[in-house]
Amino acid sequence: MEKLRVGIILGGMSSEREVSLNSGRNVHDNLDPEFFQGVPLFMDASGGIWEIPWQLVSQNTTVDIAERLTAEARRIPYEDLKGRIDFAFISLHGKYGDDGCIQGLLELLGIPYTGPGVLASALGMDKHIQQKILAAAGIGVPASMAVHDGEWRRAPEAVTERLLQNFALPFFIKPAREGSSVGVGKVAAADEIAGALEEAFRWDRVALAEEFLTGIEFSAIILERDGEIAPLDLTEIHPQSEFYTYDDKYMPGRCRKFTPPKNIPPEAADRIKQEARRAFEALGFRSYGRIDGFYLPDGRILITDPNSSSGMAPSSFFFEQAAAAGMLPAMIIAVLIENARAIHREKKGPL
Ligand SMILES: Nc1ncnc2c1ncn2[C@@H]1O[C@H](COP(=O)(O)OP(=O)(O)O)[C@@H](O)[C@H]1O
Ligand SMILES: [Mg+2]
Repeated sequence: MEKLRVGIILGGMSSEREVSLNSGRNVHDNLDPEFFQGVPLFMDASGGIWEIPWQLVSQNTTVDIAERLTAEARRIPYEDLKGRIDFAFISLHGKYGDDGCIQGLLELLGIPYTGPGVLASALGMDKHIQQKILAAAGIGVPASMAVHDGEWRRAPEAVTERLLQNFALPFFIKPAREGSSVGVGKVAAADEIAGALEEAFRWDRVALAEEFLTGIEFSAIILERDGEIAPLDLTEIHPQSEFYTYDDKYMPGRCRKFTPPKNIPPEAADRIKQEARRAFEALGFRSYGRIDGFYLPDGRILITDPNSSSGMAPSSFFFEQAAAAGMLPAMIIAVLIENARAIHREKKGPL
């Protein structure tokens, strides 16, 4: 039997390129060699794709890899990708990676890929638009307000006043489209608004202000298997910092996680899984997704951060929850590839 040539796309152009490197490395290491031939593909900072030898995959940072590309890797023009791989495992995160851009390119090239298509990927990235869709589906979301950078530049006093009228302190400000807590800030006093907005506008032209949620933060992975959509066991998150920051997410020992949850009652955990599944379906996600939110002290469930893709490092929620369900990493990777191939066989036009 011919092995499926699986291009693992890692690196990329977003603030999450190091996270992507960890995900891609783990995918690469867990591809079952009996069925798959892994082809590591590094996306550089300007979107160029390079086929890299596996030794380069084990480099520490994307900068280390980028320095060695010219000498050790081979640049692959987009239109030649189809000749090199049969399938794309998208291990990119963030802008241009899980927001519909690379998905659109792969559609044009006719290469099947992991995860959902262009629209659902774009929705998964956009916290402002996804909240409207979730609310329309009757799913709980935090009270929020979008601020455009243009109106902030034109009328900062009016924007500040509007925010203070609508939100009690503290509240959150974040870029509408980012990930890994990049650009997210907690505003504890009125004089912190300007700094928080400026930080959010470094990453996007739209910032989102959100009411501050208390309670227990959770992460729910939804996985399709054999055409059935099923939630894995929930993870409860207790960050070490004031909120779940980049360092809490990726530095070892910075955050306590419980799978299954320790302080969320089983009845509520079941409701959370159902809500997460409804959010997954409302946004058109496919194959798997990570739906994050808060379980509030009054028992309400609010969805704050649905992701059409998720980190895939060994310590990620995805692998942790799959392990709790008895799934080995190689099994998960195989399921995701199988899902994607089935989804692409059935599609009519772009996914
Ligand atoms: N409205 C909020 N109330 C309380 N904490 C929040 C709120 N929004 C974000 N946070 C905290 O900030 C973290 C990152 O925000 P999130 O919206 O999940 O963005 P990202 O896509 O970068 O993960 C969350 O995991 C949570 O700890
Ligand atoms: Mg999040």
